[in-house]
Amino acid sequence: MTAPATDAARQAAIAQPTIVVEHAEDRDIGAISALNNLFAPDGLTLPRSEEFVTSHLQDYQVVRDSDGTVLGCVALDEYSPSLVELVSLAVAPGAQGRGLGRRLISAAEELTRQRSYPELFAITLADQLFLSMGFRESSIELFPEKIARYQKISRSELSIGRKFCFSYRVEPYPMGS
Ligand SMILES: CC(C)(COP(=O)(O)OP(=O)(O)OC[C@H]1O[C@@H](n2cnc3c(N)ncnc32)[C@H](O)[C@@H]1OP(=O)(O)O)[C@@H](O)C(=O)NCCC(=O)NCCS
Repeated sequence: MTAPATDAARQAAIAQPTIVVEHAEDRDIGAISALNNLFAPDGLTLPRSEEFVTSHLQDYQVVRDSDGTVLGCVALDEYSPSLVELVSLAVAPGAQGRGLGRRLISAAEELTRQRSYPELFAITLADQLFLSMGFRESSIELFPEKIARYQKISRSELSIGRKFCFSYRVEPYPMGS
C-alpha cells in the first residue's frame, strides 16, 4: 500500500503545470552532456559524452527555461524488454529545490509505461526523493543485467557501497485506454 505522503508527492509532481518536460532534441545534446557530467566527479551520475547522448537521444527528456536553456534532464537505459534503468537524472544547481527533479522522475515513469516496460530501477544516493515518488527499496542482486553490464566496463559504480537501489513497478494503462 502506498503511503499517503508518497501519493501527495507523486500527485504534486504530476500536476505541476509550470514545469514542462519534453523529449530532448539535437539542440540539447551539448547541454545534457555538460549538466550530467557536472555531477560525475562526485559519482552521482555516470559520465556521458556528447556522442553517447547523440546516440541515445530518444531516451532523454529535458526541462528547459523560457530561453531554451536546459535546466534538468533524465534518461532511460534499457536492459531488456522487461527492465529499464532511470539514469542521468540531473538538475542545474541554480534550479534545484523547485520540483524539477520530481517532475523528471515522474516523466521517466510515464515514458517507461508508454514503452511497456513493467519495471524501472535506479541506483542513487537520493533515497528519500525516490521513496517519496513511490519507488521501493530493492537490491542490485535482483538485477544481474546491471551487474553484468558494469563488470564489462568498470566496477566503480557497483563498488560505491553507499548508493542504494530502488525499483518501481509500472502499472500498465487500463485495457482499452
Ligand atoms: C537529485 C536532484 C535531481 C533533485 O532535483 P531537484 O530539482 O532539487 O528536486 P526537487 O526540487 O523535485 O526536490 C524533491 C525533493 O527531493 C529532495 N532532494 C533533492 N535532492 C536530494 C538528494 N540528493 N538526496 C535526497 N533528497 C533530495 C528535496 O529536498 C525535495 O524534498 P522536499 O520536497 O521534501 O523538500 C538534484 O539534486 C541533482 O541534480 N543532484 C545531483 C545529481 C544527482 O544526485 N542525481 C541523481 C542520480 S539518480
